[in-house]
Amino acid sequence: MIKENDENKNENKNENKNENKNENKNEKNKKDIYILGIETSCDETAASVVKNGREVLSSVISSQIVTHQKFGGVVPEVASRKHIENIDTVVETALSDADLTFSDIDGIAVTGGPGLVGALLVGLQYAKGLSFALKKPLLYVNHIEGHINASFIENKDLEPPFLSLVVSGGHTFIVSVEDYDVYRILARTRDDAVGEAYDKVARALGLKYPGGPEIDRIAKEGNEEAIKFTRPTFHEETNDFSFSGIKSGVLNYLNGKSQKGEEINKADVAASFQKSVIENLLDNLLSAAKDEKAEIIAVAGGVASNSYLRKKLNELGEKEGIRIIFPSPVYCTDNATMIAIRGYYKFIKGDTAELNVNADPNLSLI
Ligand code: KG4
Ligand code: ZN
Repeated sequence: MIKENDENKNENKNENKNENKNENKNEKNKKDIYILGIETSCDETAASVVKNGREVLSSVISSQIVTHQKFGGVVPEVASRKHIENIDTVVETALSDADLTFSDIDGIAVTGGPGLVGALLVGLQYAKGLSFALKKPLLYVNHIEGHINASFIENKDLEPPFLSLVVSGGHTFIVSVEDYDVYRILARTRDDAVGEAYDKVARALGLKYPGGPEIDRIAKEGNEEAIKFTRPTFHEETNDFSFSGIKSGVLNYLNGKSQKGEEINKADVAASFQKSVIENLLDNLLSAAKDEKAEIIAVAGGVASNSYLRKKLNELGEKEGIRIIFPSPVYCTDNATMIAIRGYYKFIKGDTAELNVNADPNLSLI
C-alpha cells in the first residue's frame, strides 16, 4: 500500500505541468483497479476478478478431479486438454459474475509457473491473447506467491511482514514475507512435499485421488497413537523438512502387514501418519517463528485445509500468542483469486510482463 502511495506521489509531481492532463490523470488515479486472474497450473481451470487487490468480485473454479480420479492422479496431457475445453467459459463466467466486461479490466494476471508445463501454457497463451487484443498489461504470477497472497483475501488488515507456511501438493516452505514481493525462505522440504506424501500414502491405502482430504476424513475415526512412524533427524541444526522417511515407514508397515496376512486398520494408519507429519511441521514452524519473533503465521496451499493441522496450529497460536491465519478451504487449494491479488501488487508497481514470456514449470519463489 505504501508503494502505491509513493507511486501516486511521483505521478502527481509530473501532472502539475498541464491542467487538462492533470484532470485526466486524477480521474485515472481515482479509478478502481480491476484485475482478471487466470490459473491453470495443475487440474483446476480458474478465473477471478478482484477489485483494488482485496475485494473479490468473482471466483470460478472448474475442477478436473473426477476426470483424473479414474487414473489415480493427474494426467498432464488430459489436464491440458481439459483446460483448453474450459477456459473460455470459466473466464467469461468470472466476468459476468463480476458484472463487468473485458473493457473494464485493467490487467490480466496469469500463473506462469511452477506447474505442469502443458497446463500452464493454456492459461498463459490465453492471457497473452487477451493482453494483446485488449491492450492491457500482462502480469506474470508465481503460483507459490499466489498461494501466499490467498491470505489477503479474507484478512483485509493483513500486511507484510508475516511468516507463511506453504503446504501444497508440490511445495513445502516456511517463508518470511517481508514485503509484497520480498521473501526469505527459512525452511523447505528436502524430498517430498507434504501434500505429495499425503497423496502417496493415501494411494497405498487404496483411497481415491486426491488423497489428502481422504486421509483427513478417515483419520478422524482412527487412533493416532496406534503406530509410531518415526521422524527424520538431520546432522545439522535446521528447520528443513523430510517427509519421504515417514511415507516409507507407512509403506513398509503396510507391506509387512500384508505379507503376514494381517488386517490393516486404515483409520489408525491415517491418524498415526498424520500425527507424525503435522507434529514435524509444527515443531519446525514454531522454532522458525521463535527465531524470527513472528507475530503472525499465515498458512497457504492445499494442505492448509487439513482439519488436524488447523486445530493443532490454532492451539499452538493461542498458547504462544501468535496470530494464525488460515484461508477458507476453497482459497487453500488452487484458485485464480490469489493470482489476481498478486497481479494487483505487480500492476501498481508497474511490474508487467512482455508478451514473449514463457511458462516455467520449475519457477522458484526467489
Ligand atoms: O495447493 P494445491 O491445490 O495444489 C498445488 O499447488 O499442489 O494442493 C493440493 C494438495 C494435494 O496434495 C492434496 O492432497 C492436498 O493439497 N490436500 C490436503 C487436504 N486438501 C487438499 N491434504 C491434507 N488434508 C486436506 N484436507
Ligand atoms: Zn497450488
